[in-house]
Amino acid sequence: MFRIGYGYDIHPLEAGRKLILGGIEIPFQKGLAGHSDADVLVHAICDALLGAIGQGDIGLHFPPTSPEYKDISSLKLLEKVIRWVKEKGFVVGNLDSTIVAQKPQISPYFEAMKQTLAPIMELALDRANIKAKTPEGLGPIGHGEGIAAYAVVILMRKNASQSL
Ligand code: CDP
Ligand code: ZN
Repeated sequence: MFRIGYGYDIHPLEAGRKLILGGIEIPFQKGLAGHSDADVLVHAICDALLGAIGQGDIGLHFPPTSPEYKDISSLKLLEKVIRWVKEKGFVVGNLDSTIVAQKPQISPYFEAMKQTLAPIMELALDRANIKAKTPEGLGPIGHGEGIAAYAVVILMRKNASQSL
C-alpha cells in the first residue's frame, strides 16, 4: 500500500550560470553547473520518486550524455517521473526535503518553490515541504563550492489514498 523513497544530489556552483532551485530562479552571483539546469532539489526529488517505484535513478533514465537533456528544465524530468509513478498506480502522499547551501538565503523562495512543485506532484501545499540548512561553513559546501539536496517521499496506492 505504501512505498518510501529517498534521494540525494549535489552540484558545483560556477560563475556564469543561473541558480535554479525547486524550479525557481534565485538571484545569486553563481549558479549550479550540470548538463541540465542542474536543479539539485528537483533531481533529489526525482531520485526519491524513482527509488520508491524501484526504478533506479535519474542518471539511468535521463543520461547526461544524451543531447536531448542538455540545459533542459528539470521540471520536465519531474513531470515524466510523476507520470511513471501514476502509471504504477501510486500517488504521492507527501514530500519532505532539505537544501544544504552556505549561500544564498533560500527561505524567501520556499513558497514559490512549493507553488511550482506541488501542482506537478499533485500535492496540496502542506504536503510539499522544503527546508534549508547552512553547513555552518564546514566542508566544500560550507566554502561555497556547491549545493546539495535531500528528499524523501511516500507513495500511496491510488485506491488506498482516498481513505487517508
Ligand atoms: O539553526 P540551524 O543550524 O538549524 O539552521 P541554519 O542552517 O543556521 O539555518 C537557519 C535558517 O536559515 C533555517 O530556518 C533555514 O531555513 C534558513 N536557511 C536559508 O534560508 N538558506 C540557506 N542557504 C540555509 C538556511
Ligand atoms: Zn543533479
